[in-house]
Amino acid sequence: MGKKSLVVANWKCNGGIELVQSYLKAFLEIDGADVVVCPPVIFLTQLRALIRKNVSLGAQDLSAFEAGPYTGNISSEMILECGGTWTLIGHSERRALHLESQEEVLQKLQAANRAGLKTILCVGETLADRKSGHAVEKVLGQLDILREANDAALLDNLSIAYEPIWAIGTGETASPSEAQSMHERIREKVSSLGETLGGNLRILYGGSVSAHNCGSFLKEGDIDGVLVGGSCLNVSEFEKIVRICGSR
Ligand code: 13P
Repeated sequence: MGKKSLVVANWKCNGGIELVQSYLKAFLEIDGADVVVCPPVIFLTQLRALIRKNVSLGAQDLSAFEAGPYTGNISSEMILECGGTWTLIGHSERRALHLESQEEVLQKLQAANRAGLKTILCVGETLADRKSGHAVEKVLGQLDILREANDAALLDNLSIAYEPIWAIGTGETASPSEAQSMHERIREKVSSLGETLGGNLRILYGGSVSAHNCGSFLKEGDIDGVLVGGSCLNVSEFEKIVRICGSR
């Protein structure tokens, strides 16, 4: 049997009570897919009723620190207390706008792992990287921290999201075959860290995913799910994506 699809909603800095209410009425439970909803953390407790066997809540980021004088930070324990069991880490918007370094991304992975949160490490190249033929090098380079971490539990709890930066919020996507070939390289690299790891790893595609295009990505052998931004702000569109990905 193949792996279950993983479908993740990243609200980013969007939504409010109205979107919370519409998610609470949404139909997200489907046998073939694990669904993770990542709202702004301030809404986590209000979304607790969504939690089911196949539906979980997650954060979009977390503090690398457990507690202390870090104004504005949210720790992994706080996420857990509010019902979150997953977190995105190293999203390109965090790397670009908050200047998150590889070192910080690794510290966050380790903090999440210590607390028992499941993690989705985000990687991706810029348009300039792709045009200059450096896309693979850039993406695989972002995975070097996994070798540094050298931690079996961390790797066991990890999924990876490949999000080409030029496809985020642009309406433009990588082609399914472009994404597949990057996913294959990612799996190869993770496999080199531990024999069974690569096979079990779920690698998601992200970047302008919609109900219209998600099926074509999930047909590819190394694409195990999707990370959805804009399209998850419309609940019925997100429900469709979950259904399509869950029935591949
Ligand atoms: P869009 O689906 O809006 O392109 O965003 C992708 C993304 O960054 C999800 O994390």
